[in-house]
Amino acid sequence: MTLGGHIETQTRNLCAGVGLDAEEPVRLLGDVLGAAGARALSEPPLWSSDVADDGAPVEYSVQFDDDGGRRLRILAETLPEHPGPAANLRAAQDLVDSLASRYDLALDRLRAVQDLFSCAEPQDWAWWFSLIFTADGGPQIKIYLNPNMRGAASAPQLVAEAFDRLDMPDAYATVRNALRRGGLDRLSFVALDLDQSSQARVKVYFSQHDARPTDAEAVASAVPGIEVGQVRAFCSVLAGDVAVFRGRPLVSSYSWVSGDGPEPSNYSCYLPVRDYVRDDAVARDRVRRLFRQRGLDPAVLDKVITAVTDRPLSAHAGLLAHVSLRLSHYKTGTTVYLSSEAHGGTPLRDVDAVGHRTGWTSPRPVGRAVIGQE
Ligand code: TRP
Repeated sequence: MTLGGHIETQTRNLCAGVGLDAEEPVRLLGDVLGAAGARALSEPPLWSSDVADDGAPVEYSVQFDDDGGRRLRILAETLPEHPGPAANLRAAQDLVDSLASRYDLALDRLRAVQDLFSCAEPQDWAWWFSLIFTADGGPQIKIYLNPNMRGAASAPQLVAEAFDRLDMPDAYATVRNALRRGGLDRLSFVALDLDQSSQARVKVYFSQHDARPTDAEAVASAVPGIEVGQVRAFCSVLAGDVAVFRGRPLVSSYSWVSGDGPEPSNYSCYLPVRDYVRDDAVARDRVRRLFRQRGLDPAVLDKVITAVTDRPLSAHAGLLAHVSLRLSHYKTGTTVYLSSEAHGGTPLRDVDAVGHRTGWTSPRPVGRAVIGQE
């Protein structure tokens, strides 16, 4: 079995579970996977991607709107035949060009900032893609740019400059205010929707290390018209009595669409549930509870889970990687992130005495080994 074959099967199953036609997703994903698709699963990954804990260059997510809308999204890193920081960036840049020749992409924003997020020797991953599929057309494509690619120290300056170029300098002031806890709050991604729509977003994500739910709430309070108390409720359903998230960090994001002022119109909170449960059976129970609270059908969760795995959920944690809550004044929703577990899933290291993963408390080491190359 190859990585491409494994991903294709999961994608077909997920499309069936979510109610989407699978042909376009499978074709597009094949192109995005690039050289990694032909890799046998019995071998280590061609390149250890940070997209997923096991180095697989793909992560699924299913987005549920509180009003019933659903989308399948696939986060992917494209890899060339001979991966390496510079070659991976080049492959991503080439992919943008080839996607632009097939889909009607809005590239102005990306073109305005791309040189900031490009360099000869990236110190970390550079560009990732999210492929978004809905029942009514698509796909939509979103690009993630890594503000740490020139080193973590220059991330704030890089993002400030990007916001300037996007003509959103006042919006950056909101981001700066959100990074309130010194080195514990760190910029992690900038994302741009590449669709031609007035709703195309500019998004910025930051990780909040050793944070309490109230730290996420404080960040959420910059968004007008949302109920920030929902963040605390969300954290407590998913993580029980965890007071401080000392494992993998909570991540918060803001997004702006055209017409927004300095305040973002959306806040999202991403909780790395895999670090705060003993196993995926526990994670499933908690996500079911969250679904019931939010008026979503918990049966759909099982469809999504069985689309990607038939392993016993109690074997270990990591299938349910994150869960996120999206809040804006006009729409709210919940997203469930699933590992492909193509290369074995979340490794069983960093497990503390009570069986909870202690996770990464500092940025991941950069320049990770190229397994099977060099
Ligand atoms: N694997 C990385 C992490 O867990 C990046 C990532 C993938 C991520 N999907 C995510 C981060 C969803 C936050 C939310 O940090």
